Amino acid sequence: MGNLRDAVLNDDRVVIVDHPLVQHKLSILRDEATTTKHFRELVGELAIFEGYEATRDFPLEDIEIQTPLEKCTAKQVEGKKVAIIPILRAGLGMVDGLLQLVPTARVGHVGMYRDPETHEPHEYYCKFPQDIDKRTCLVVDPMLATGGSAILAIERLRKEGVKDIRLLVLVAAPEGIEAVLKNDPNVKIYTCSVDNKLNDSAYILPGLGDAGDRIFGTK
Ligand code: PRP
Ligand code: URA
Repeated sequence: MGNLRDAVLNDDRVVIVDHPLVQHKLSILRDEATTTKHFRELVGELAIFEGYEATRDFPLEDIEIQTPLEKCTAKQVEGKKVAIIPILRAGLGMVDGLLQLVPTARVGHVGMYRDPETHEPHEYYCKFPQDIDKRTCLVVDPMLATGGSAILAIERLRKEGVKDIRLLVLVAAPEGIEAVLKNDPNVKIYTCSVDNKLNDSAYILPGLGDAGDRIFGTK
């Protein structure tokens, strides 16, 4: 597993968001003593840091503006159309943070749950903006474990004709990253951590437990 982890860490399609504040907040997120309220706030904050990295290459254009003192040439983001695609439920926790960064983004939803025995994802809901094929899609989910849920969501978007897909997760297992990139080599993955491995129940070690339950306080 060490080799697989090293391989994904060296893959230039994988961006580790290693800012000190991110790593600090991630440690609090992992701690089982962190309350539901605090956990939810941290997921939102980490989504903003990740969104900052995932939008770094957005092209700029020049505009003319008048400051209180004089006219000048300034920069604005060049008409980039964005869609945020949370994988339900846990992905919902990242949406508000990303909307703070890109307020004009549309939001599409993919509802999925993992079968507790087989760990296979099952889709129960899907609704995308009509012009999804013209948008850069930020697929968001705090956890990338086997990769099954992300793969299904990405396949749905490709079927709609989406070209630019970026997957934003907070914690990833090496196995999940490998599976996503094997299935679709053109995805870029942003994560705050590549953890060690999956356990027999396909939970990430050390991970942070069940992200959906911790965000919504359902356990
Ligand atoms: C969790 C998590 C991901 C998925 C990751 O969701 O939020 O969507 O599991 O696992 P995978 O990479 O092996 O597919 P879960 O199915 O528990 O649903 P929930 O968000 O409704 O709790
Ligand atoms: N889903 C989670 O919420 N946590 C894991 O560790 C794996 C899947």
